[in-house]
Amino acid sequence: MDKTKIIITREEIARRVAELAAEISRDYKNKNPLLVGILKGSFVFMSDLVRAMNIPAEIDFIRLSSYGRCTESSGKIRIMKRLETPIKGRHVLVVEDIVDSGCSLSYLLDFMRLRKPASLKVCALFDKPSRRKVDVPIDYVGFQIPDAFVVGYGLDFGEKFRHLPDLCILEE
Ligand code: IMP
Ligand code: MG
Repeated sequence: MDKTKIIITREEIARRVAELAAEISRDYKNKNPLLVGILKGSFVFMSDLVRAMNIPAEIDFIRLSSYGRCTESSGKIRIMKRLETPIKGRHVLVVEDIVDSGCSLSYLLDFMRLRKPASLKVCALFDKPSRRKVDVPIDYVGFQIPDAFVVGYGLDFGEKFRHLPDLCILEE
């Protein structure tokens, strides 16, 4: 059994999510934003974020293939589950669990820009800036973390650990 060590507690996450939700609610007041979560990792963050916001929002999810990330630019990334909501003219906020190389996000933003949303921004709960290979703008960042593989709060290692309420690192 792999051992996990907590690096950000559920209470710290909840406090930060509330701050992000307040900021987003202010910025998107009367804009009926469409929040687009990237599956699967963002499902926990998304559900906490929307419930902490004090404005209405619509929700959709998209799923990207996870293999091939970061090799030749972002050429190997594919969409495994499409959006179900037209985004043309919408204020779109992409909700991501963690940004690592930035490849998947960069691909997704290019894809979405072609569909002409009214605005397009990104909210990522965790950010590993030292790992970045593609420069991607992140408008709302929860926590910057060092270069370590983390699990919990929706994030997995081989589909395990998503259920853990705190952010953890895996210990051998
Ligand atoms: P990127 O394209 O390299 O930025 O990869 C981003 C995706 O890889 C995230 O949405 C996560 O699903 C996954 N990922 C990156 N780092 C971690 C980690 O430390 N733990 C779990 N998943 C991660
Ligand atoms: Mg993800």
